[in-house]
Amino acid sequence: MATHFVINNRFIVRSSVLAACAFAALFLAQCSGGGDSAIFVKEPLPYSQDALVPYISADTMGFHYDKHYAGYVKKANALAKGMGYAGKTVEAVIQMTAGDVSKTAIFNNAAQAWNHAYFFKCLKPGGGGAPEGILAEMIDATFGSFVDFKEVFLTAAKDQFGSGWVWLVLDEGKLAVVTGANADTPLAHGLIPLFTVDVWEHAYYLDYQNRRVDFVKTVLDNLANWDFVADQLEKAQPSKE
Ligand SMILES: [Fe+2]
Repeated sequence: MATHFVINNRFIVRSSVLAACAFAALFLAQCSGGGDSAIFVKEPLPYSQDALVPYISADTMGFHYDKHYAGYVKKANALAKGMGYAGKTVEAVIQMTAGDVSKTAIFNNAAQAWNHAYFFKCLKPGGGGAPEGILAEMIDATFGSFVDFKEVFLTAAKDQFGSGWVWLVLDEGKLAVVTGANADTPLAHGLIPLFTVDVWEHAYYLDYQNRRVDFVKTVLDNLANWDFVADQLEKAQPSKE
């Protein structure tokens, strides 16, 4: 599959899948390592379902975590059963199925399971504000300032047509903002995910109706877990000190 990802308003097409090895190690826990009936595991929510109120309601989080995310995990396991993925990591299944039109259903559900587990980790009560340290320095060097980064991220969220995701990623060692439609994921494009916001309507419609940009801005200002993002950056690009 040649999947289109938008990087700062330019399209890239990648037909091959590169491993995001350093990052992927974080999610080995998602893999049962055993029978393929449980390759995908519903990860615990890192906070209570009402912990992000008033920015994300308990209703929204409840539906998102217990219905949508749980549904992707369940469907991915059902589709993977008997398909020879036993012992594979979630990341491996995503990379093995990306671009194969005969495996679109399992790719979609596997990628959605992975994307959601990652998204929930990108949020925390009392989050938001500006990142610090190397992450902040790289944002300033890439986008001009954190304010400029937020503008790029919000514009990407606004311009994403239909359901999808907005990501801050590492692309060959450089920061980039990318968007992906539906279940698409940076793991399928050799990009290393750092931060994401889900812009499927189920992520915000109960609380924000059609005001997607307000939702994403609220996440950036009040919920973004920059410590988690900085940790992912450090694991992907260890300090040379
Ligand atoms: Fe979602």
